[in-house]
Amino acid sequence: MSPTRYYSDDAVTLFHGLDTDVLPTLADASIGAVITDPPYNVSDRNGRDGTTPGRLRRRDGSLREVRKDFGVWDRNWSPSLLIGELPRLLRRSGSLVAFTSEHLLADWLTSGLNHRGLITWRKTNPPPQFPKLYVRSTEWAVWQVNGPGGWVFNAGGYRPDCYDGPIVPAAERVHPTQKPVWLMRAIVAVHTAPEDVVLDPYAGSGSTLLACRDLGRRVIGVEADERYCEVIASRLSQGVLPLGA
Ligand SMILES: C[S@@+](CC[C@H](N)C(=O)[O-])C[C@H]1O[C@@H](n2cnc3c(N)ncnc32)[C@H](O)[C@@H]1O
Repeated sequence: MSPTRYYSDDAVTLFHGLDTDVLPTLADASIGAVITDPPYNVSDRNGRDGTTPGRLRRRDGSLREVRKDFGVWDRNWSPSLLIGELPRLLRRSGSLVAFTSEHLLADWLTSGLNHRGLITWRKTNPPPQFPKLYVRSTEWAVWQVNGPGGWVFNAGGYRPDCYDGPIVPAAERVHPTQKPVWLMRAIVAVHTAPEDVVLDPYAGSGSTLLACRDLGRRVIGVEADERYCEVIASRLSQGVLPLGA
């Protein structure tokens, strides 16, 4: 698929297309930070994450299907393309913040960038999903830097590596793995300078793009599914979101 420029304004450029087609076209050292939420490879075809489909009895006695299947995009994704492009795309000392699952941690930890730690999002209202498993209430992002030092860290001297807050309410969800804008705003604020161009090559519903736009950062997004490009354009047209969103 050849990528198309689906949306652009002063802050945001969104490509409808694949990472493989767009990333190689971006200029060397043109990106101040990659802040992204790529596939986790947890959908149930590969049997990971305790995702065997089953049925859960509701309190009212009725049965609900229990499965985790976000789509074909979440089955066999590999971070290798992005990892290969990062040293070229990121400016010196630019940061990568990539949400991920335990299944892909080994790939990230051998990326060759300077690993600075794991960031945890602790969900304050995690939904119960699978009986006889812990209720999944945290997600992680790897934070890595392109170079030995000099990275942006707009958080004062010391900041805990946890961000605590709610998931997007079901009634407001427009993507199955939607990150809340409050979380992406907090991360963009800590890890970018005002002049940085941010890249999110797996934009989904565009939470990173909205966060960047709200904070006055320029951002490039890539999304393979045109339906989500439409969602992003629609969310961007709604203006700056309230702080809790
Ligand atoms: C985990 S979701 C991102 C969710 C997003 N953070 C949000 O808040 O809505 C990953 C997205 O990457 C897209 N995607 C998967 N493979 C891709 C590829 N090779 N190139 C571009 N986008 C891809 C999927 O369509 C999906 O919307």
